[in-house]
Amino acid sequence: MTTKVPVIAIDGPGGAGKGEISRAIARELGWHLLDSGALYRLVALSAIAKSADLADAQLLADLTRNLAVRFDNVGEYCRVFLGGLDVTENIRTEESGQVASVVASMPAVREALITRQRSFQQAPGLVADGRDMGSVVFPDARLKIFLTASVEERARRRYKQLKDKGIDVSLPALSKDMQERDRRDSERSIAPLRACSDARVLDTTRLSIPDVVQTVLQWVGETYP
Ligand code: DC
Repeated sequence: MTTKVPVIAIDGPGGAGKGEISRAIARELGWHLLDSGALYRLVALSAIAKSADLADAQLLADLTRNLAVRFDNVGEYCRVFLGGLDVTENIRTEESGQVASVVASMPAVREALITRQRSFQQAPGLVADGRDMGSVVFPDARLKIFLTASVEERARRRYKQLKDKGIDVSLPALSKDMQERDRRDSERSIAPLRACSDARVLDTTRLSIPDVVQTVLQWVGETYP
């Protein structure tokens, strides 16, 4: 019998619904949540704030190791702090996302985040949301899920999310950015975005959030009875 804390790895491209689904599953099970994309976005934000050279991998890896990050759960919501500053909204901008994708392509940055990500594996369990949760960070996770959706649908969802927050964006520009980010995330040499062979793939293009949550919970029940 393994005494390891159970992990559900949820990977997939941006806009596939990973964030919302992972939050709902963690809430339903009473498990911890790792939003690994937020960590890459925090590295990006910190690099932007320090006007760091985005081509200097060593500098960015040092910055990553020294990142003063705090995640505070306030009721249902999680607030993110960088060096004591509340950056919950700042990390969600398109600029942070684009720079996050650039820093995420650097092996030294990814390596510098591994231990921090693994420290989230605490009882009673962890829902880990990202791109390489099942392939690299938690390869022993017994349930690995790859959530995907068409690029048009993912751009439409991201557009709505940003509009709801009062952020003005154009749908064609967002769709182009998303394709560019997909390409960079999928083609990078380290931990490229792709479903691992032991992941269950779920296309959410035509599914509602409750439908996806129900399917995932069924898989959780089968895997961790
Ligand atoms: O999921 P997100 O949009 O918040 O992620 C931001 C960027 O970070 C995205 O371009 C890919 C990268 N990322 C990654 O490379 N590995 C992860 N585990 C999570 C995110």
